[in-house]
Amino acid sequence: MIYLKTPEEINLVREASVLVSRTLGEVARWIAPGVTTLKLDTIAREFIRDNGGRPACLGYEGFPGTLCIEVNETVVHGFPSNYTLREGDIVGIDTVVELNGFMGDTCYTFPVGDIDPKVMDLCKTTKESLYVGIDACRPGKRIGDIANAIQTFCEHKGYSVVREMCGHGIGRSMHESPEVPNYGRRGIGPVIRNGMCLCIEPMINMGSRNIVIERDGWTCRTKDRKPSAHYEHTFAVINDSVEILTTFDYVEEALKDRFI
Ligand code: MF3
Ligand code: CO
Ligand code: CO
Repeated sequence: MIYLKTPEEINLVREASVLVSRTLGEVARWIAPGVTTLKLDTIAREFIRDNGGRPACLGYEGFPGTLCIEVNETVVHGFPSNYTLREGDIVGIDTVVELNGFMGDTCYTFPVGDIDPKVMDLCKTTKESLYVGIDACRPGKRIGDIANAIQTFCEHKGYSVVREMCGHGIGRSMHESPEVPNYGRRGIGPVIRNGMCLCIEPMINMGSRNIVIERDGWTCRTKDRKPSAHYEHTFAVINDSVEILTTFDYVEEALKDRFI
C-alpha cells in the first residue's frame, strides 16, 4: 500500500528532512582522525533532541545507535563504537529523524582527511548516481526507471551495485512502500505519482556487489572487503515535479570551513 501524501503532510516530511540534514551538518564539523564514531553518535542524538526531534534509528528493531556508521568496507547498518576514525578512511553516516510524526532520512559518505583518489572517485560517482536516480523520477514514469538509471550509470563507471538493500517510501514510517531498488529493468514497478515521498539511496561497491552480514545481525560489509559508498536523499513528487527535501548544503558548508 503506497500512501500518497497531501501537501500539508509533505510539509511535515520537509521539516523532518531539514532537521535530519542539519544533523548531518553538525556531525560533519566533528569528523576528523582520532574521533570515535560513538562521539559522533552522541553529538547527533543531542542535536536532534535539542531541536525537538526523535532519533528514529535508536531502538528501531533493536538498533543501538542514532547513526548508522559505515566505515570503508561497511555498506550499511554499522554500530557506533569506540572505533577511532583514521586518515584515509571513508565513513558513511546514515540517520533518520522523526519530527511532529513524520520522518526524514539522509546519508552522506565523508572522507576522513586525505583519501585515495580512487576511493574519492567511488564517493563522487555514488553521489552523482543519487542525482541521476532523482532525475529519472517523474510522475508517470516507473520505479524501475529510477533503478535502471542508477545501475547503468554506476556499472558504466566500473562499479557494482548492492542489490540486497533498497530505497523506500517514507512518511509516518521510516520504511513505506514502494521499495526503490538501485538496479533493475526500465518500465517495471509502480507508477510514480504526485504525493509520493521517496528515499533513493545507492550503495555502490568498488569491487564485487556481494555482501555479508556480520554476526551482530546488523553490520553489512562487502564480501571482498573493498570500499563501499552510500548517499541518500528524501524527496517528494508534488505539482508534477520532484522536490528534494533533504540537502547536503549543511554538510558541504561544514566541510568547506574545515578543509579549505
Ligand atoms: N536509514 C536507513 C535507511 O536508509 C535505515 C536505518 S535502519 C536503523 O533506510 F535500524 F538504523 F534504523
Ligand atoms: Co537512511
Ligand atoms: Co533510507
